[in-house]
Amino acid sequence: MGLKILSTGRALPKTIISNHRLSAMMDTSDEWIVARTGIRCRHIVSGDEDLTSLAVTAAKAAIEKAALDVSDIDMIICATMSGDYVFPSLACCVAEALGALRPAFDINAACSGFVYALEVANQFISTGRAKNILIVCAEMMSRFCDWTDRSTCVLFGDGAAACVVGEGDAIKYLNLTADGHTRLLYQEAGSGNSPFCPKKEPGFLKMSGQDVFKFAVSKIGQEIDRALRTLGLSPDDIDLYILHQANKRIIDSARARLNQPEEKFPVNIDRYGNTSEATIPILLDELLEAGRIKKGTKLLISAFGAGMTTGTCVMIWE
Ligand code: COA
Repeated sequence: MGLKILSTGRALPKTIISNHRLSAMMDTSDEWIVARTGIRCRHIVSGDEDLTSLAVTAAKAAIEKAALDVSDIDMIICATMSGDYVFPSLACCVAEALGALRPAFDINAACSGFVYALEVANQFISTGRAKNILIVCAEMMSRFCDWTDRSTCVLFGDGAAACVVGEGDAIKYLNLTADGHTRLLYQEAGSGNSPFCPKKEPGFLKMSGQDVFKFAVSKIGQEIDRALRTLGLSPDDIDLYILHQANKRIIDSARARLNQPEEKFPVNIDRYGNTSEATIPILLDELLEAGRIKKGTKLLISAFGAGMTTGTCVMIWE
């Protein structure tokens, strides 16, 4: 016995920043951002909002839709890099806010975090160590961006999504990778005021955009092929390809390679930008709400992120 997703929920910060607003802040334009990325606006944490409250809102929505009580949750896994505290984990903050005093921990697999979290949950559920697990993918990328660097800050947004997973047999394939290319996309931690190390200030997000683009196009292609080959499926057998929303051109390239219609590759990057590991569960929540995912829908989920990591999963919705 493995797992199935029982329910999903999402939460986005209230402030929406359009490309036009960014053009007033730096040397960029709506035309450039839309043409190169597909992004039109993104939600950004502002004022007294924080990541914990977004994560908790998404979590409460998912628990309510699963018709479960907080006491039914056996474990909380957050996929995040940007919790409000370095420690305790975001998962512990969510547990406290929900009153769900269960084992709680964060995992960091960057933008592949949702699929990594699914696999971790899958192991606990398969071995009978947990029955219902709350997964929360929440990210405040605006913390990491250098807001004077037009080549990176226009790409990202903040957001959270959660799902409750329980016993089931929805996952037909799941593969995780990490290939050792740690310098394509990174942010350095500083040395604090340790008197034992050279002084190093914490950095901002750094990215070699074109290399990440090439990695994503070729690796996601390989990982999708591997999933289809392993299951003996053709691209036509998949109903929906739910890909990490990092750049519409990366998604279009995967679609063209597989020669599939546009409606099989749903996107929401135009409205949210890249919210890291939250992109896929936010999209799942929207598709479920729109009735586009039903019992029997065959999904191929694939994500890539810093590391460079990937996570690919084929699921038949139960
Ligand atoms: N507005 C206007 N011009 C910009 C710009 C912006 N926001 N950002 C960069 N440019 C300029 C560059 O300075 C460059 O100018 P030049 O030709 O005068 O030197 C030009 O646009 C082209 O830059 P380039 O980096 O070659 O563009 P690109 O087509 O590769 O697109 C990315 C850049 C970042 C959008 C693209 O490489 C990308 O999406 N990479 C993958 C990123 C990703 O997925 N990250 C998340 C991983 S989880």
